[in-house]
Amino acid sequence: MTKEINPWGSDDVKDYRKIMKEFGISPFSGVMKKLKEPHLLMRRGIVFGHRGFDSVMASKNYALMTGLMPSGKFHLGHKILADQIIYHQRELGAHVFLCVADVEAYNMRLADMKKLRETAIEEYLLNYIALGLEPKKCDFYFQSERSRDSGKSNAYYRLAGMAANKVTMNELKAIYGELSPGKIMSVMLQVSDILHPQLPEFGGLKNVVVPVGIDQDPHIRLSRDIAARFSREFGFRAPAATYHKFILGLKGGKMSSSDPYSYIALTDSPEEAKKKIYKYAFSGGRKTVEEHRKHGGNPDIDVSFQYLYSQFEPDDRKITKIRDDYSSGKLLTGELKQILIEKLTKFLEEHQKKREAARKKVDRFLDK
Ligand code: TRP
Repeated sequence: MTKEINPWGSDDVKDYRKIMKEFGISPFSGVMKKLKEPHLLMRRGIVFGHRGFDSVMASKNYALMTGLMPSGKFHLGHKILADQIIYHQRELGAHVFLCVADVEAYNMRLADMKKLRETAIEEYLLNYIALGLEPKKCDFYFQSERSRDSGKSNAYYRLAGMAANKVTMNELKAIYGELSPGKIMSVMLQVSDILHPQLPEFGGLKNVVVPVGIDQDPHIRLSRDIAARFSREFGFRAPAATYHKFILGLKGGKMSSSDPYSYIALTDSPEEAKKKIYKYAFSGGRKTVEEHRKHGGNPDIDVSFQYLYSQFEPDDRKITKIRDDYSSGKLLTGELKQILIEKLTKFLEEHQKKREAARKKVDRFLDK
């Protein structure tokens, strides 16, 4: 059971439905009706599941909390989380708590605090700002440095320490499998990440939603359990969560920071991106043009189609036509790639300008 989803494993998820059933995750489609304008990622089923998001929707003021490990280039897989955060902040007025999990990253693989901080700013923060994150209504912080306000900072670390008293070793083992001191530390900090927006020092009890990849669900389940165990001390509300699917890597497998040919980074030049797509983007097309014309391609496994579908072709009619034409064989793989490249080139050019302009905003996020 624990092997199925593991925050520190690299397992691909094959059957989302099975996982939803096994772990009691509700389909997102059930709550989507309540959103006036659901985000593209929600409409298209990339955000596929939730826990308790209905109560978040019912509340006027809610916070969004999530985190990221600064472990390399910021790529299209990371972008889908950023897009959701910005949607909640901008369209739904959520206050954003965004954590750089530098302590977790230090303990897991990249034991260089200075480098982690640089990556967090150069790769993550700059791209987030360029995508539209606003400093107002945003607490951007590091696990190693919660706040310059000692009252706030103490409250966050105190909660991490206290949370350790609300869980047993057997429980942790059942959730995470093999443990190490670094993992336990990271888990307790993440529980505090998720629950601390409800502390008096951070504005008190409120609904909080945590958008994450499905691999983070073990942390969500634990945080919800621990929230209940603090009922007398803090009376926390159970944190809600939404879950998104992994975005396919270029070659069809996982998008992994350690393999530059598995992703498109938001700092890749349009020229580089184009080359990567032509050379590596896994195709759902047939071996020969004749066969393709006759039998058609498979958009469900075609990486170029998937990128258009999840991020770069928001027009429902256009994407349906592309899907139909590709499935029928009218549209060839090379042509499909060309459609993506045009969209992506435009996006990268504009984004990279915005990213440079974002430098002057960085201080407003760090001065907390
Ligand atoms: N563990 C998360 C990851 O691997 C990062 C993270 C830290 C996080 N704190 C969080 C995610 C709080 C969601 C909520 O990416």
